[in-house]
Amino acid sequence: MKSLSSNKEMKQMVGIKAADLIKDGMKVGIGTGSTVTFLIEELGLRIKDGLNIQGAPTSYGTKLLCVKHGIPVIDSMQLNHLDLTIDGADEIDPYLNAIKGGGAAHSVEKVIASMADEFILIADESKLVDSLCTKFPLPVEVIPAALSYAEQQIRQLGGTPVLRSALRKDGPVVTENGNFVLDISFDNAPKDLELLNNKLLNIPGLLETGLFLGIAKKALIAYQDTVKLIVPRT
Ligand code: 5RP
Repeated sequence: MKSLSSNKEMKQMVGIKAADLIKDGMKVGIGTGSTVTFLIEELGLRIKDGLNIQGAPTSYGTKLLCVKHGIPVIDSMQLNHLDLTIDGADEIDPYLNAIKGGGAAHSVEKVIASMADEFILIADESKLVDSLCTKFPLPVEVIPAALSYAEQQIRQLGGTPVLRSALRKDGPVVTENGNFVLDISFDNAPKDLELLNNKLLNIPGLLETGLFLGIAKKALIAYQDTVKLIVPRT
């Protein structure tokens, strides 16, 4: 689905920079993916130097990395508020709307993003697009019983759904919630993302979309030799 080694230096630069946003005593939502992995590694170093935080991971992968790097983990099941959540993205538009779910973790990622006072995206410049759904297909999580019906309904909305296949397992990706992921491509970028999101969420059995609309108010973006703070276009 995506190359974990692509733009490694830029991902590392922005992951390390993002650690500066995390202050002593904070409860922090920690996203999923290769960019966030660099943040987790940096936080592990800072915790050894005395930083005192708790992290709410968005996936098993992130939970395992937090444990490996000594970040105290809190379970989102026991939480309704976080100080800050930091996460990667697959596409980011000028309004900081984003597509997420390249790691099939977008349902929990959206919960953890939504309960935070502040949600900050971290990415390299390759993720910036003028319009969403142009380079990266839109992931949606679907309960297995609804697979065929959801595919039909998505086609009626003008999208082409593809069931995501696992890489080192036969058959489909099964999410941490026991569901499938459909990656939807569109011939033309959808103009009304809110409408599209609502129509998708209205499909019975479709649990969550990878559209993160209006949630991020800041993004840290890595370019070849610098990291810039971006705010939504007004
Ligand atoms: C996982 C995600 C990731 O944040 C997104 O795919 C970006 O990943 P990476 O930092 O590896 O490019 O949404 O569900």
